Amino acid sequence: MGPTMKRVAVLTSGGDAPGMNAAIRAVVRTGVSLGFEVLGVRHGYTGLIGGDFVPLGPRDVGGIIQRGGTVLGTSRCPAFLTQGGQQAAAQQLRDRDISGLVVIGGNGSQAGAHALASRGIAVVGVASTIDNDLAGCDVTIGATTAIDIALEAIDRLRVTASAHGRVFLVELMGRTCGYLALIAGITGGAEAIVIPEIAQDPEIIATIIREAYARGKSHAIVVIAEGAERDADALARYFAEHAERLGFELRVTKLGHVQRGGSPCSFDRLAATLLGAAAIEHLHAGRHGVLLGMIDGRVTPSAFEDVVVRKKPLDAGLIRLARALTE
Ligand code: ADP
Ligand code: F6P
Repeated sequence: MGPTMKRVAVLTSGGDAPGMNAAIRAVVRTGVSLGFEVLGVRHGYTGLIGGDFVPLGPRDVGGIIQRGGTVLGTSRCPAFLTQGGQQAAAQQLRDRDISGLVVIGGNGSQAGAHALASRGIAVVGVASTIDNDLAGCDVTIGATTAIDIALEAIDRLRVTASAHGRVFLVELMGRTCGYLALIAGITGGAEAIVIPEIAQDPEIIATIIREAYARGKSHAIVVIAEGAERDADALARYFAEHAERLGFELRVTKLGHVQRGGSPCSFDRLAATLLGAAAIEHLHAGRHGVLLGMIDGRVTPSAFEDVVVRKKPLDAGLIRLARALTE
């Protein structure tokens, strides 16, 4: 390292999300162009605590912009929740003269970034999780690709549902957030959408399905968020006890991790590239302690303390639209 060259590190943490690689690529290439030496941390906070660093140059991040997952690896790291774990992580950075860190991840990961920032580390966060449950951005990197994957599945399920005259309960990820289910339900033309943010009487869902059957529809699709009060299995059990009310035969499909593995769509690649580059520019300019997210099409910084404690509400207009279109 030359005398004036500064060292920064980048890690991905929490659930992998399509677009994380595009963000890593932007961090590395922008960082090098600004005169930084860039190190990757493998497997998120686990690698940070364990000192698992790898040097990254522009050529090391070639051919990854289109790949889902994360070339750095990721983890859920219970040890980092402890003071000892956070102290060890901060020490690893100091031992290597690393003057800045970019954390690419969801709300848990950004809470971790905030914890490191509170220990005096210059950290910039990049909002990335399929769940879109993170304040400080309109949509997190990865959520739009996950919705596209869900849509493809829903479109296919409708084909087989129509052939058999069935109702499909399609369960999507999202943890406690209904965003993926809400958007996939609206854009997939679902008959009903079940999300944690709205209390829903299963009798109303049963009525919607029954009426679809009575109107001569060949199928019905119910999109359910995994975090809903009644998930797909619970609803299926409920309907099994009241099967005659539905008309249609019922099947359950849980997309699960399939939603995470896709190639990032153009929106996620662009957002990841803009945010990854901006993260390094922030460190270069001495601005840190912030999460970067896209708000109204612009890279927007928010102080960690303002975003990690706040739950992002779902768009009330979209919820109204979903009700109007599905009832
Ligand atoms: P995501 O970032 O996708 O929301 P997690 O919630 O699993 O994923 O968080 C990823 C990691 O971030 C956790 O395994 C833990 O190491 C760290 N983390 C989560 N919450 C906190 C917190 N409140 N304080 C410090 N670190 C946290
Ligand atoms: O946070 C992303 C996410 O895919 C959630 O939607 C889901 O609840 C969770 O991760 C699954 O976690 P894991 O990959 O650890 O099973």
